[in-house]
Parts: sequence; structure tokens; C-alpha cells
Amino acid sequence: MDKRPIGVFDSGLGGLSVIKELSRVLPDENIVYFGDTGRLPYGTKSNETIIKYAIEDEKFLLSFDVKLIIAACGTVSSVARKTGEQLPVPFIEVVTPAAKAAAKATKNKIVGVIGTAATVRSDSYKKAVLEVDEEISLHQVACPLFVQLVEEGFVKKDDEITRLTAERYLKPLKEKGVDTLILGCTHFPAISEIISDIMGEDVTLINTGEQAAKAAAWYLKENDMMGSGAEKHFFVSDRAESFKTVAGILLGSEIEGEVTTVNLQSYLK
Ligand code: DGL
Repeated sequence: MDKRPIGVFDSGLGGLSVIKELSRVLPDENIVYFGDTGRLPYGTKSNETIIKYAIEDEKFLLSFDVKLIIAACGTVSSVARKTGEQLPVPFIEVVTPAAKAAAKATKNKIVGVIGTAATVRSDSYKKAVLEVDEEISLHQVACPLFVQLVEEGFVKKDDEITRLTAERYLKPLKEKGVDTLILGCTHFPAISEIISDIMGEDVTLINTGEQAAKAAAWYLKENDMMGSGAEKHFFVSDRAESFKTVAGILLGSEIEGEVTTVNLQSYLK
């Protein structure tokens, strides 16, 4: 038994796709979440900047004596994975669990990946999928606008702007005939209904957030580190109010737990 909280971070709201699944598979855990809303998006930035932000986010979470850190962000997991592997606590990233799930799910061995520009540039999912099965052919498309659309709360199935954007981004993947699509950014499950509608019901969508939460549950069980308690505290680096509003839309109910704005720099001294 280990009562320390789990630390989860993302550039913004995307990590809530991990929180949603964690509440299902690990209902008795205290969680500290950090959404770096003041510096979002990460996916359009240089690798150097993303690595710097990841180190600071991890340092912030460590100040809460967390027992495990989840980089609930495809971009950080792709570009700054090494920062997590050097931490004094176990670290879970989102690329490996999703790549394994995709390799298992595909039947025609044609897999698509959508993510941020930095994620696609890194080829992280491609390498991880090919490591499981080198016969898979993999096609990637960067979809940076999806991040902004989700942060705006444009996630309803009938949202015309999101649908048009998705049609344009997903066209090349449809043409390649992918039967499995990795939602390589944790923001994207929020618009999975629209994505699925466009790709067709025969295409399996892999939710990175969900797979990472399952990997965390497995790790804690395996290492006898399960907790007790279910307190959640959300920290953001910009306005708490807007985070709360859109989080409510994404989760389908009011966010459970306090949302506090922090000055990240004061934790880094
Ligand atoms: N949710 C993030 C990801 O999984 C980052 C989006 C962004 O900040 O660009 O890649």
C-alpha cells in the first residue's frame, strides 16, 4: 500500500483523458494533475523548449511527493521521454502502451498516427509500432489545430468547424486504408466521435490516455503500490476558470476536485 498521490501532467486539458480512465481502473488513488495552460501548446515548439517544460512540470509534481509520474502528453512522451526516465520515481509515458495496443489491433497491418507536429517529427509512434511488428506500414499526419479546438471546447459531434478540420486532416489516412488509428495526442480522444465518424466504424481508434492509465494500473498492482483515498487536485499555470469550464464539457460533468492556478517558477527555485 502506498498512499502518496499519482502525478499526471500535460500542456493543458489533454491529460484528462488519462484521468478519466484512471478513475475507472484505479478509483482509490489520490491524484495531483498539472496542466501547463499558460504555455500551451507544446506540440508546435522546438524539442529544446519541450524538454525544458517537461523538466519543470516533473519538478513541480515531485514537490508533492508523488509515487509515480504519468506524462499524459504525446508530445512530451515523444520528445522528452529521457527526462522522465531520470526521475527518482517510476515514469509512464503514452507512446509505448498505445503502440502495443495498435500493433495488436491491426488486421491489415496499415496503421495511422495523428499527433502534434513535434510528435510526428519525432517518429516516436512509428519506431514503437515497428518494434512490435516490423511488417506494419505506418502513416502519420500532424493535426495541431485539434489541440486548440479541444481547448476551446469545440468537441460536440455536430461541431462544424472541428468536423471540417478533421475531414481535411484525415483524408490522406483514409486513402491509405488504415484499419487502426492511434490518437497520438491526449487531447484527441475528446473529439473521437467526429474522428470515428469520418474514418468509418471499421477503423479502430487507439486512445493513448486510456492505454497509459491501464499501464499505470498494471505497474502499481505489480509493485504493490496501490493507494487508498480518491482526492484529486488540479493545478494550472493560467486561468483556473476556463480550465474548469472546458474540463466540464470534456468529462461530461463538473470536474471533481479543486482547480488552482500556480506560479510554476516559485516551485522551481
Ligand atoms: N496533449 C498533448 C499531446 O498529447 C499536447 C498538445 C500540445 O500542447 O500541443 O501531445
